[in-house]
Amino acid sequence: MKTRITELFGIEHPIIQGGMHYVGFAEMAAAVSEAGGLGIITGLTQKTPEGLRKEIRRCREMTKKPFGVNLTFLPAVTPPDYPGFVRTIIEEGIKIVETAGNNPSQVMPFFKEAGVKVIHKCTSVRHSLKAQAIGCDAVSVDGFECGGHPGEDDIPNFILLPRAADELKIPFVASGGMADGRSLVAALALGAEGMNMGTRFIATKEAPVHQNVKDAIVAASELDTRLVMRPLRNTERVLRNAAVDRLLEKEKALGATIKFEDIIEEVAGVYPKIMIDGTMEAGAWSCGMVAGLIHDVPTVKELIDRIMAEADQIITQRLARFAAS
Ligand SMILES: Cc1cc2nc3c(=O)[nH]c(=O)nc-3n(C[C@H](O)[C@H](O)[C@H](O)COP(=O)(O)O)c2cc1C
Repeated sequence: MKTRITELFGIEHPIIQGGMHYVGFAEMAAAVSEAGGLGIITGLTQKTPEGLRKEIRRCREMTKKPFGVNLTFLPAVTPPDYPGFVRTIIEEGIKIVETAGNNPSQVMPFFKEAGVKVIHKCTSVRHSLKAQAIGCDAVSVDGFECGGHPGEDDIPNFILLPRAADELKIPFVASGGMADGRSLVAALALGAEGMNMGTRFIATKEAPVHQNVKDAIVAASELDTRLVMRPLRNTERVLRNAAVDRLLEKEKALGATIKFEDIIEEVAGVYPKIMIDGTMEAGAWSCGMVAGLIHDVPTVKELIDRIMAEADQIITQRLARFAAS
């Protein structure tokens, strides 16, 4: 399938794997890129720019196809060495970067000069327009359904995507709640040029996470996520567990006086415990409502081939039938 996104990134299928903390290692990105999508290494999962350099080189050994690096700008207890990460990305010849969180205007001149294409992930039309204005090549429009940080506007993709289509000139992909061929066709119908998936890619054979994480996603329904850290204006959609219930109790009890330090036990340093050790009650970890649409753990290639075949079938048969009548 050809879209402005496949053309922009030189990929076969308009499917992107969004950056995911402690999931987006070389194995994940390489599997997605090898299957014809765009795999993305999560930059900040590597503790240092040198660590990222090694991860990029490992990924190159696994695939010759294009892959990208995610750079997330979110509030952090200790801010990462952003200039160092940017330098490494450029030195290693990466040509696609997914930025997320705060507006990436400070790093844009460096990426532009190095010929790096930037896709910024954001959760509102106004942030998408800002991304376009500062020179981003594309945006990933992340609806309220998404796993991770949906922002504070709570606009679901059925509204957000056509709104983005009405306003943007640069191409965009639909992100949040995407799982299958139906998602892809719907995204295209609403004006997107492809889709970005997070949670769905965790439940694949190649995802380098503990089996307990994959099992938890398959077992979860669309009712099993919760929004945490809303009082801190750092809302995150996570899978419900005992730690999340505890966190929400604290939010209720402390109200507007809550500080990050009050919930540090439930949110800091959680990812390695969940993703590597499989300790599922260790804390709050991002997961989308789309868990309700995930019932198996295929290989990445099986998943992407299935999505493309299903999308093709919907377009040429189901939708064509309606067009003819
Ligand atoms: C476990 C997990 C970790 C994530 N970590 C990041 C991250 O570090 N940076 C980022 O930009 N997005 C992150 N995301 C968001 C995804 O890239 C993607 O935008 C989101 O998952 C899309 O929604 P979906 O899960 O419904 O597909 C994460 C998502 C999940 C599920």
